[in-house]
Amino acid sequence: SPSSAAAHFSVQRAAALLGLGEDAVIPVAVDSQLRMKTGALTAALERCVERGQLPVAIVATAGTTDTGAIDPLRECAELAARYGAWLHVDAAYGGGALLSDRLAPLLDGIELADSVSLDWHKLGWQPAAAGIFLVRKSETYASLARRAVYLNPADDEEAGYPSLLGLSLRTTRRADAFKIAVTLRTLGRE
Ligand SMILES: Cc1ncc(COP(=O)(O)O)c(C=O)c1O
Repeated sequence: SPSSAAAHFSVQRAAALLGLGEDAVIPVAVDSQLRMKTGALTAALERCVERGQLPVAIVATAGTTDTGAIDPLRECAELAARYGAWLHVDAAYGGGALLSDRLAPLLDGIELADSVSLDWHKLGWQPAAAGIFLVRKSETYASLARRAVYLNPADDEEAGYPSLLGLSLRTTRRADAFKIAVTLRTLGRE
């Protein structure tokens, strides 16, 4: 999976946890503003194809933690579509800009991602942990929609307490997105 040389180390860590190994992450050169170079990304994808390898995903960053660099998201989406790769946008740090009319255009193209991660305990001024993982297609989560008598009994659901199975990667843990929803409903976006 190509990802910016300036991307967060969690990309390598995730690849290692998946059993792909850290070397499965191909670092892509960045420009003087620490944004992934589109030419270098295209070359990395081409090299994968030449070697008969499948470029599984492009991991773009919307706001690196140290400098706030934002990769060219729209171009990344075009390349992901052309090479059949998933586009993940790590907006853990920069995602808070989406709350601002002035700053949101910096994240132009994020709406084209297959998945986006947001940490609103960073620029969203929420308590830790306030992480969200969003996917474009709800079918992506279909396999999470399990039923277990002890977790989602019918009478709970009838009483209006739906379980999060199918909506969250977690089972019994609290839903981090809940505090964000409460803040937005209580205080609004501004
Ligand atoms: C850009 C970026 N990606 C990923 C992470 C890791 O996120 P988390 O702490 O939610 O695992 C961070 C910060 O921690 C980050 O700043």
